[in-house]
Amino acid sequence: MPFLPSVEAADTDALADALAQALDAHGACRLPAFPDDAATRALREELLRVKGDLVPAAVGRGIGRGTRTEIRGDATLWLDDARTGAAAAAYLASLDALRVALNRRLFLGLDEVEAHYAAYPAGARYAKHRDRFRDSDLRVVSFVTYLNPDWRDEDGGALRLSLDTGDIDVVPRTGSVCFLSELEHEVLPATRERCSIAAWMRRRA
Ligand code: OGA
Ligand code: MN
Repeated sequence: MPFLPSVEAADTDALADALAQALDAHGACRLPAFPDDAATRALREELLRVKGDLVPAAVGRGIGRGTRTEIRGDATLWLDDARTGAAAAAYLASLDALRVALNRRLFLGLDEVEAHYAAYPAGARYAKHRDRFRDSDLRVVSFVTYLNPDWRDEDGGALRLSLDTGDIDVVPRTGSVCFLSELEHEVLPATRERCSIAAWMRRRA
C-alpha cells in the first residue's frame, strides 16, 4: 500500500529532521502546515494580483519547445520576478532556510531554490513527467505548495505521485508536498481554477 507521511514541526530544524527522514524512507512527504495560514493567504492574494502576468508554460527543449496544453496547461510566473512581492520573497526565504537545513542532514549538495506561481484553468492538466530534465539532474527535490483553502475533494486536480509502493493522490487544498524530483507524477484536471507554487531545490550547474 502506498503511504505518504506527514510532517509538522515548530521550527525549521525540527521540520528538516522529519522531512529528511521521510524523504529517505519514502521519497515523498506532506507538510500540511507549511506555509502557515497567514503566509498561505498572502501568497494566494499575491498570485491573484499578478495573474495577468502569468505566461502559458512551454514543454520540450530546443526546436521542439512550445505550448502544448494537452500535455501541460498551467501558466506560470517565477517568484523572483520583479512583479511579485513580499509574499513571494518571504516564501523563497523560508524555503531556502529549509534547503540549508536539509543539506546538513542529507548531504544532497542543494545549492539553490527556484519557484514559480502556477495557475491551472479548469480542465487543465500536466501529463505524467519527472522534474529532472532529461539531460541533467540539477533538480533534486521538488516542492509544491497549494493555495486553494476552499478546495473540495470533488473539485479534482489531484497531484498523482508514483511512489515505489504505488500511486497516491494529493488533494491540492493547502500545505505542501515534497518529493524527490526523479519520481514520476502528474496533475489531474480539475473543475475549477487551481493555484499553486512549484519549487525545486537544485544543484548548481
Ligand atoms: C510541476 C508539477 C504539481 C502540482 O509544476 O512540475 O508537477 O501539483 N506540479 O501542481
Ligand atoms: Mn512536476
